[in-house]
Amino acid sequence: MNKLDSALVSSALAQQGYELTDKATDADVIIINTCSVREHAEDRVFSNLGHIKHLKKDRPQLLVAVIGCMAQRLGEELLSHDSVDIVAGPTQIDEIPALITRALAEHQKQLSVTDEIRRQPPDERESELDDFEVAYDSDKHHLKSQAFIRVMRGCNNFCSYCIVPYVRGPEVSRPPAVIFEQARRLAEQGIRQITLLGQTVNSYRYKGARIYTLADLLEQISEIEGLHWIRFITSHPGKFEESILNAMATLPKVCPYLHIPAQSGSNKILKAMNRGYTAEQYIELMDKARAIVPDLAIAGDFIVGFPGETDEDFQATEHMIRRVRYKNCFIFKYSPRPGTRAEQKLADDVPAEVKQQRNVRLLEVVNQIAEANNRVFEGRTLEVLVEGPSKKAHLNKAEHLNEPQLIGRTAHDYIVVFNGPESLTGQFVNVRIVKTSALTLFGELA
Ligand code: 5AD
Ligand code: SF4
Repeated sequence: MNKLDSALVSSALAQQGYELTDKATDADVIIINTCSVREHAEDRVFSNLGHIKHLKKDRPQLLVAVIGCMAQRLGEELLSHDSVDIVAGPTQIDEIPALITRALAEHQKQLSVTDEIRRQPPDERESELDDFEVAYDSDKHHLKSQAFIRVMRGCNNFCSYCIVPYVRGPEVSRPPAVIFEQARRLAEQGIRQITLLGQTVNSYRYKGARIYTLADLLEQISEIEGLHWIRFITSHPGKFEESILNAMATLPKVCPYLHIPAQSGSNKILKAMNRGYTAEQYIELMDKARAIVPDLAIAGDFIVGFPGETDEDFQATEHMIRRVRYKNCFIFKYSPRPGTRAEQKLADDVPAEVKQQRNVRLLEVVNQIAEANNRVFEGRTLEVLVEGPSKKAHLNKAEHLNEPQLIGRTAHDYIVVFNGPESLTGQFVNVRIVKTSALTLFGELA
């Protein structure tokens, strides 16, 4: 979501004549797009603002904007920071170019956040945001041939640990015609992969002449010529409709990949998290998904150290990871977020060392499974969408010094590293896998 918001803002400013620079010391305007999901992300913003304070001493005309979830959460408090000139929430991204212009003209701080974030926005406001998303390109400053389309805003789930409903507002699904038109135009401009975005993308529902669902969107967008792969993230395991799995099984462009966080394998913890399903229901859903889409790759998120999590609860999580055999998992240590139900009602009682141990343990389990799983790809040839030169030097680097190491992903979202000309960036190529690790498949251009 944040990558998309950054791309839209960046594209809008480019149309006004601004140019991107990757050096803070060259910038006239610095925009920090923020995340509030964990405390650590917010701490990093404050430390960045500390560095910027020094830049501002030398160049008082430098303008600094803090946008996104943290801006909505802290509002005035952020604006009062010495380094900050503009504060704009995630539902105000369309106003950012105007706020910058105004701050420059008036030499005054600018604040734009929503007072009552949980109130359903009026339709006019929604269509203004839609116009902004349609007018600017989500593929700018992102990977070549790839783009994001937001299909819905906000979230209504109120998982007890989560800040998102309080900073991104209520769930609103965008009209399917607008989404389709945006996808068609992106394809026309050479986009080959579209990722549909929603906080709980499977709950996409639009009431028009009839009710449109995510499966309908997948079916419609599949018809667009030029598009090769379609993905969607992130799914919520509650009320996950079979029609989505059927679309995945029958539409060749829809990638067989589900990011569907379980968060915990313990029913006691799932209940306290207000997730709305049991471990058994989640596993049953994953079994059904694999029955319908046999080669499905499943990715998950887990939180360790949620209030009240005992060794037994933790073992249930470990068990779930082994049972589901995830392609990969993101593991997070619980961090209380101000104003959420967990923060208000439950003591953060799992010691930091225990959270750390559990984090390390789960990563071990995930890697063990991935290592064994990835080995089956050795000798196989896979289709890969090339992202570009790899930033890291990988295992097989020394063997091919003449060509750069490229990185790309398969339809199942496996990361593939191979040597080839940089001109392949943004293209689909076949790679024969020769070596594998828990995180990466290594291969040669076929
Ligand atoms: N503490 C730790 N992790 C969290 N997540 C969301 N809120 C918190 C929190 N308060 C994790 C969840 C979610 C991912 C984006 O971040 O696992 O799926
Ligand atoms: Fe947060 Fe839960 Fe909504 Fe995901 S579904 S954004 S975890 S409240």
